[in-house]
Amino acid sequence: MKKLFIKSYGCQMNAYDSARMADLLAPLGYAPTGEAKGADMVILNTCHIREKATEKVYSELGRLKALKREKPDMLVTVAGCTAQAEGAEIVARAPVVDLVVGPQSYHRLPEMIARAARQAGHVLETDFPALEKFDALPEAVSDTGVSAFLTVQEGCDKFCTFCVVPYTRGPEHSRAPDRIIAEAGQLSARGAREIVLLGQNVNAYRGVGEDGKTWNLARLIEAIARIKSVSRIRYTTSHPRDMDDELIAAHGAIEKLMPMLHLPVQSGSDTVLAAMNRQHTADDYLCLIGKLRAARPDIAFSSDFIVGFPGESDADFDATMALVREVKFAQCFSFKYSPRPGTPAAAAKKLVAEPVKTARLLALQALLLEQQDDANRAAIGKTMPVLFEKPGREKGQLVGRTPYLQPLHVQGSRALIGRVAKVKITGLTANSLHGALLAKDLETASMPA
Ligand code: 5AD
Ligand code: SF4
Repeated sequence: MKKLFIKSYGCQMNAYDSARMADLLAPLGYAPTGEAKGADMVILNTCHIREKATEKVYSELGRLKALKREKPDMLVTVAGCTAQAEGAEIVARAPVVDLVVGPQSYHRLPEMIARAARQAGHVLETDFPALEKFDALPEAVSDTGVSAFLTVQEGCDKFCTFCVVPYTRGPEHSRAPDRIIAEAGQLSARGAREIVLLGQNVNAYRGVGEDGKTWNLARLIEAIARIKSVSRIRYTTSHPRDMDDELIAAHGAIEKLMPMLHLPVQSGSDTVLAAMNRQHTADDYLCLIGKLRAARPDIAFSSDFIVGFPGESDADFDATMALVREVKFAQCFSFKYSPRPGTPAAAAKKLVAEPVKTARLLALQALLLEQQDDANRAAIGKTMPVLFEKPGREKGQLVGRTPYLQPLHVQGSRALIGRVAKVKITGLTANSLHGALLAKDLETASMPA
């Protein structure tokens, strides 16, 4: 057996791609290992979204240089969005790299490994044969876990002016619904109980079915909800513009669809939203939140924010804070604007000074954290269905998640892993809830695992 070490950076789609690369290399005799030292093949599945993410790749390559000196036949592969964006620069800066493969070409890895064995120097593949990739990938064999990712859509045609994704992941492409439903079935047969549908613009999903008809995301979710052993469905990441009425209605109608939605808004200022080419106003966003709350009153929201976008004034930033106060988010991700080569915003002249960016990020994060804490505290005293994922660190402990993705600990039998059981929530420590199983599930808990 050859040892394969994959390090995944960035988003959930990279995590999905990493699992698929492991599946692809398994028939070649590669088995996963937990460390780069001594590995026959190391894959860095990289992220290019912000400058910091890209810098991490180069520092990791520095470390790999030493390991390759100890084991000269180690194959070093750079995959993912940095590979796509700056493949040629990577091999020039880091001769330790043997293979460079973009996110749409990794199905060609076996053939690239064979080429690397025949020829000196590196092998580089950064085409966009998106239609080919999913057809060429083998059926998933790697461990799924209780919650599994499933890519349904890839790429982005929105071209927000700050974002590299349309360039690194390419144009929007939706997989065929029958293939996705089959994959969801395979994942659930291997133990997945929660399916997280992934796409850079997942709610822009438009797959062509065997019936020749175009399916939207609502119809796809409905079909996956019919798989008996799937108990929870989520989808991410959505764009406000693509939140159609059918999808909003699905939140009220499909019980397996979890009442938590990641809906990035980026800013609360119409001026900044226009400069970002988000194609909606702050009011459009608030109106959408209202419609979703009407369809599913207990729905919670998370979002992404960028502070310090070029030209962002104090008043613009105040508008972001006002939007946050109005929505009350359960969880959020916020970033300082990072200029990315090749994106329109990178050419902007009216930059926000670094200390101003820092001050705004701190103020926003303090408010978001307060809201997250409020959402967690509001759960205390409630009874919620929890999907148990794995044993906890303490003896007899289980870790699961509420419908709102909050981690939760209870004492219970391992027989509950992969099952949903009701928990009376009694407290909060750091960011984790704890509670007790209801009596009915305690009986299950005393059954042998
Ligand atoms: N600078 C800072 N944050 C960015 N994001 C995307 N591009 C940039 C950038 N250039 C953030 C957005 C997006 C999330 C995945 O990353 O908030 O929603
Ligand atoms: Fe990037 Fe905008 Fe596309 Fe999201 S919608 S991936 S932020 S370009």
